[in-house]
Amino acid sequence: MEEYSGFRDTHAPSKVVERVEMIAVTVMALCALQADFRRPEDVVTAMDAYYQSQFADLELAKAGIFGTSRVESSEIGHHRRQGGDPGYRSEAWVTTVSLFGCRGESLKAATLSNRYRRLPNGTSAVEPEDFPKIDEGVLASAVKRFASTKAKPLVIRKKDVFVEIRPVRLSKRECLSCHSWAKVGDPVALMLYVVSPKKKAAGPLP
Ligand code: HEC
Repeated sequence: MEEYSGFRDTHAPSKVVERVEMIAVTVMALCALQADFRRPEDVVTAMDAYYQSQFADLELAKAGIFGTSRVESSEIGHHRRQGGDPGYRSEAWVTTVSLFGCRGESLKAATLSNRYRRLPNGTSAVEPEDFPKIDEGVLASAVKRFASTKAKPLVIRKKDVFVEIRPVRLSKRECLSCHSWAKVGDPVALMLYVVSPKKKAAGPLP
């Protein structure tokens, strides 16, 4: 029996290991708590970083896959690719994403159309009539604003709804090999992000 207890002792986790494990579990729990976004602005910043990186990555363009079909969650043929949009995974916020552009040509209000749309990731706590109207006038003013490379995003708030429009710019010299009308930094599309609080799921039945 004594031999066994000796055996157990040498294999028992040391105090240091125990402490490290405790810290790891605490960090994981904190990460889970912080996994969601605190403010709608933060959701938009994360989503925009994701979409911008998709357009900046030219691997697919080189393979002959252009524009919005380079977005991960879009369809190529019948194959739907796995999207990594961080706003889609949010439990706290309902998010939608749309892209308006002129098919890779010079960005003009007159020829603008909706070229990509990511549907909402749940039901909003806000009634549809309380969402701000994003009409042609709003999009036209965004096109005008983003002609300047220093322009800030266009932000619209109405009650609990947060809307932000940001440009996609032809940020690299390589973009111009196809978008030959442009100079580096010209806008080629508008990203429209809409964020509102998610409707809480109904509790368990009594
Ligand atoms: C190999 C050629 C090629 C390169 C390089 C290229 N693009 Fe494009 N891009 C296109 C074509 C063609 C379209 C239009 C596709 C269509 O009609 O759907 C397009 C469309 C787009 C659109 C969508 C516009 C819309 O209205 O649908 C965006 C955004 C875009 N490009 C961004 C970029 C950025 C940013 C770069 C550089 C980092 C880049 N592209 C480099 C060929 C290219």
